[in-house]
Order: sequence, then structure tokens, then C-alpha cells
Amino acid sequence: MSVSDPTHACWMNGALCHPDQARVSVFDHGLLYGDGVFEGIRFYNQSAFRLEAHLRRLFDSAQAIRLAIPYDAATLAEATQAVVAASAAAQGYIRLVVTRGPGDLGLDPESCHRPNVFLIAAPLRIVSDAVRSQGARLIIASTRRLAADGLDPRIKSLNYLNHVMARTEANLAGADEALMLNQHGRVAEGTADNVFAVRNGRLWTPPAFEGALEGVTRGLVLELARAEGLDCHESPLTAYDLYTADECFLSGTGAELIPVREIDGRAMATGCGPIFTQLLAAFRRCIQRETNDA
Ligand SMILES: Cc1ncc(COP(=O)(O)O)c(C=O)c1O
Repeated sequence: MSVSDPTHACWMNGALCHPDQARVSVFDHGLLYGDGVFEGIRFYNQSAFRLEAHLRRLFDSAQAIRLAIPYDAATLAEATQAVVAASAAAQGYIRLVVTRGPGDLGLDPESCHRPNVFLIAAPLRIVSDAVRSQGARLIIASTRRLAADGLDPRIKSLNYLNHVMARTEANLAGADEALMLNQHGRVAEGTADNVFAVRNGRLWTPPAFEGALEGVTRGLVLELARAEGLDCHESPLTAYDLYTADECFLSGTGAELIPVREIDGRAMATGCGPIFTQLLAAFRRCIQRETNDA
């Protein structure tokens, strides 16, 4: 990352700043305890995509962990557009982070009086073009998703260590991504994406109570699939359901839509199947419609 990369931009605590000058304290509880919440947002054609849904989830996550964000949604929306405008890129990724802020070394959040809020714009490429066109190879990680009765999976918190460990398993196995199971051994989601299966022309994805983040892209896929007349189910899934699916794909802000061609050495019936192809076209049309992206 170059100091002068014109595609990088940052906004911190009320003002645009140079990304290399943005600082958080070593006493910040976001750093010390993962005490904070965040969003990943894509922009296309210099316009943030589905920003309202991301901000709603950010405020819901913050409310759930009793973290008062010192800005309202309108201010954060303006900050997001400011950081997009400050980036030289037409499209890219934004990370919006709210930490509990600096406090004592003890974990009590009462010692933190000023949350840190920052946005970073930078390019994000999580898989190669070859993977996007031919399909990703996945493994099912031995590292489990945090139990839903321990930390509600709808909270998009700064605690991602088991996701990082699952991703490490994928790296060590030479795979493109890992799927995580919940504490009952059923499929929850990818390390940073939701998972969908197509079986007999029907679309399936695990519900939030199975350990899935309520992904903005997941919600959009369901919305588009229903509009396309597909039968959609938010229902528990096992590894078997994925191994034997006709099609499987991942969804996420970073991922967008990625087809899956193999899971744990089992080749999928089709990598880029007809339903994936149909939904990808609908997804691209939606981006184009909402951001005037060419
Ligand atoms: C654990 C996890 N699941 C799913 C997703 C996909 O969610 P979204 O579509 O809102 O980006 C993400 C995205 O960051 C994630 O971190």
C-alpha cells in the first residue's frame, strides 16, 4: 500500500484525513477487546451501494452491544459519500468502523467515553477473475462459527478471530474460501460471506439463527430471486445438502456473487449453473439501476 495511493481515502471522527495520518490509541477497546462494530460497503460509479441497509445494520449492531454512535445516520451517509468522492477510484470498498474508543486496560466499557468512528475507502479483490468465472474451491473448516446463543450472529462486531482461523484453514488447504459450521454441525456461512445452495430449482440459505450474518447481499439475492419467480427457503442446511446441491454460491459485499465449483473435494454438479448465472445478471442490473454504473 503506497502512502500516496490516490484510491485510498479516510474520514475519521468528523473530518476527511489522509489514511496514513489516521490513528487510534493503543488503549482503544476496539483493539484491546474487539469491542466495536463495523460495516463493509461497496461503491460503484462513485456511489455507495445499498448504504441505507448497511447503516441500519450498523446502528442495530451498536444498539445490541450498547454502543452509542456519536453521529446520526444522515451524517454517516454524508461521510461515506465524502470518502467515496475523496477516492480516485470509480468503484471500490469502504470499511466503516465504530470502536468503543480509548479506556482503561480493564475491559469495562464504562471507562470508554469517546467512540472512534472511521471510514476507509480502498480497492478490495478477494478472489481472482478466474475464480469468479470458473468457481471457487471451498473447504468446510473445523473452526466453528461462534454459537448464536453466545454472540448473536446478526451483530457485525469486531470479533472475527474464528473467521480468521477458518480462513487460515482454507489457505493451508489451498482452497479459495472456507465454510463454517455452527455448534450443531450445520452450515452457517463463509468466513466473510453467506452461502446459497440450489436444489431442484429451489434456492436455500441458512437463517440467521443458524449462525449466519444477515448479509445485505444475502437479502438482495433473496429479493432478486423472488422477483425472478424462484422458490426461496431460509432453512437449516447440512454439509450433505451442499455436497449434493446442483449449484452453490457465495454472497457478500466483498464477495459480490461467487460461484462454487468444489466443496471438500466434491465437484459440484455445475460450477456456474443456470440459476447462478440468472441471479448474477439480476444482481448486475440492480447495481446498474441503483448507481448508474455502466
Ligand atoms: C461473517 C460474514 N457473513 C456474511 C457477510 C456478507 O454480508 P454482506 O452481504 O452484508 O456484506 C459478511 C460480510 O462482511 C461477513 O463478514
